[in-house]
Order: sequence, then structure tokens, then C-alpha cells
Amino acid sequence: MTTSRISGFYNMTIEDRRTHLMDTAALTPESLLPFTTGGLSPEAADHMIENVVGLYSLPLGIALNFQVNGRDVLVPMTLEEPSVVAGASFMAKLARAGGGFTATTADPLMIGQMQVINVTNLYEAKLRIYEKKNELIAEADTIDPILKKFGGGARDLEVRVIEDSPIGGFLVVHLIYDVRDAMGANAVNTACERLAPQIESITGGKVHLRILSNLADRRIARARCTIPVKDLAFDDFSGEEVRDGIIAAYAFAAVDPYRAATHNKGIMNGVDSVVIATGNDWRAIEAGAHAYASRSGKYTSLSTWGKDADGNLVGTLEMPMAVGIVGGATKVHPAAQAAVKLMGVKTASELAEIIVSVGLAQNMAALRALATEGIQRGHMSLHARQVAIAAGASGELIEKVAAQMVAEKVVRIDRAEEILKGFTS
Ligand code: MEV
Repeated sequence: MTTSRISGFYNMTIEDRRTHLMDTAALTPESLLPFTTGGLSPEAADHMIENVVGLYSLPLGIALNFQVNGRDVLVPMTLEEPSVVAGASFMAKLARAGGGFTATTADPLMIGQMQVINVTNLYEAKLRIYEKKNELIAEADTIDPILKKFGGGARDLEVRVIEDSPIGGFLVVHLIYDVRDAMGANAVNTACERLAPQIESITGGKVHLRILSNLADRRIARARCTIPVKDLAFDDFSGEEVRDGIIAAYAFAAVDPYRAATHNKGIMNGVDSVVIATGNDWRAIEAGAHAYASRSGKYTSLSTWGKDADGNLVGTLEMPMAVGIVGGATKVHPAAQAAVKLMGVKTASELAEIIVSVGLAQNMAALRALATEGIQRGHMSLHARQVAIAAGASGELIEKVAAQMVAEKVVRIDRAEEILKGFTS
């Protein structure tokens, strides 16, 4: 069984990390090859989007220590921001002490929308659609035999009346579609296009837009974790201080949209990087997350932080998670396939459960830092290395120049150049 704990991983060379990953996750060198090469050939890319002239790389790191629903999982994260992988790994270690992350998902139900305009009587048309609901669902159910074979298909149909808008009233028909292990956009869009002529003949109106909604609020992923209060203590901070600091930080995001946006951005640092590593559509996840965060009419935190009866810190996160493991880039991008393989996930739900757990871990990492020593200290050493490189340092001088800047608490290119000159002249 894979363990997600690999000691000293941080200090290994890239080559050694790959070897350890292979051994720990019982993978062949071939299965990790896409991480070595970046995975995608220009020829493959040319089939993915238009006007391709090349490729664009991002770092791929592995978050350690994650345990989700009792299973250890090594989590691939693709992003450019320092401290995120380290933060998630450290928080996963703390969460492990409290039993790891417990995560669930709702059925993979996506919503397809049809906008019906030019309807004479909206309320009558609405009821006429409901009278034909079973036929419409049966028709939509036939569009994707593969999905159907795996237990997916059309599940329900709902009609909303929009009384007024810049063009007056119209109807919105929601088709609820179980997309199983797919992200689902293709199936849902096709089904909506298929139903349009029938909806038009039932209502006498015109079906205008036919497209899935990224507010995938039927496809929610949920994760919770408990951190023993004693494990939160560090430096001069007691566990209780850290816990209460995190809870107060959450309270800020709960009531203030300006803070909630940044708080949720921290969650998305974790979420998006796994979504990207697995070839999923992160714009869809972002759109769904922020729309969901506004569902009460006021934008708020996606997570909650509080304590249990024993005074331990308890975190929860609930958000839409429309990710797939079949179709699209997940299927054609070799690095995305390698990422899915590394995590050992067999269903889109399992992937969603890991992603939401990483989001929660990442949120905790940010709040813990903000509520105690501030965010800059953690960022400082990696940032200092980047500044040292920008100043011209190479090899072991990178570490030396960076360390001196951190010690001086001055991380600036001009200072890096001076320090470098001191070492080289
Ligand atoms: C930075 O990428 C993310 C944070 O701003 C999140 C937060 O403030 O909670 C640190």
C-alpha cells in the first residue's frame, strides 16, 4: 500500500525524488516519464487547441502526508507559487494526527440550461414542459450510450420562470444529468441541443442558449479534518492560540467579501493545482467555486473553522467539484494520466474528494501563517532563492545568497547582487 510519508523528500535532488516516488507508489519508470518530459508533445498540443506554436511548462510538485478516507495518497500539484506544496504537505501531516481528511461527494450531477424566449404565457408553458417531462428525460437519456452503460444519464428536468430581465420574461429549463466519471460538459451540451426542438414545439417559444452551468451545485465535494490542539503549537505559540487565531481569521472571511475572496483564493491554490495536474478545466472549477460562495446573495468563505468538544480545531470545506478522469485533456495529456495514476484514483468522485481535502489543507496553511507569524516568513526563503538566481547566482551560491538575505530580512535584487559580489570577488 502507498504511504504518503517520504522523509527528507524536500531536501532530495529531483532525480532522487522520482526514485522514491516510484518505489513508494509502486510505479514503473515509464509511468513517471511524463513528469520528466512535461508530458505533452507539440504534435499532441496541436490537436488540443488552435494555432499552436509550442508548449508552456509549470512546476509539478508532490504534496506529502495526505490521508483521505483512510487511504494514503501522494498528490501531484501543478502551479508556479512557492510555499503552496510545502504548506499543504505540512497541514496534511497535522491533519493526519487527527485521522486525516474525511471526504464525500454527491452524485456527479451536472446542470444543463436552456433559455426559452418569445414565450406568450410563461406559466402555462412551464406546466406544458412538466407534462412532457418523462418523454424529454427519456430522449436526453439516449444521447450518450457510453455514459449510460456506466450508469449515467438524464435524471431530472426543472423549469424556472424569469419574470423580468433586460429582454422581459423567459423560461429556463434545467436538465439534470448524471455524468459519472466525466467532467460532463460535452454530454450535457449535446443533450440540451438535442432537446431544444421539442421544448420549442411544446412552448411555442424559441430555445436560445443551450449550455451547461458551471454552478455545479448538485455535484458538491465535502471534506473535514480535525487537528489535535496540542499539535498546533509551535515556536512561542500555544496550540490554543493558533487554533483561536485560525478561527478568528475564518470569522473575518465569513462576514467580509474582501477577505473572503483572498481566503477562497488560498483554498483555490490547493484545488486548482491538482485540477491542473489532472488535466481538468480549472476555469470551470473557479467559476463554480466563486458562484457557490455567493449563493446566499453575499460572497462568503467556502470553508468553516471551529473547535470540537475537546477543544481540537475542526475545519470543513464544501464546494462544487466538476472534475473527470475520462475524456478531454485528462485522457490525452500524458502527465495528467500519470497524475491520476499516481493518486490511484479509479473514479471522478475519488479525485474530487482528494482535491477538496487539498483545498482545506491549503486554507489551513494560509490561516495558520496569517494568524501567527505572518505569511512572508514562509515565502521568504523560496522567494530569496528566486531573487538570488535573478541576481546571477548559480550552483551552491543560490542557497548562500538566499540564506544571507533571509537572515538580514532584506530580500531584494540589489542586496542579492551585493552579497553575490562579496562571495565571488
Ligand atoms: C496567497 O496565494 C494566498 C493567501 O493570500 C490566502 C489567504 O490569505 O488566506 C495567503
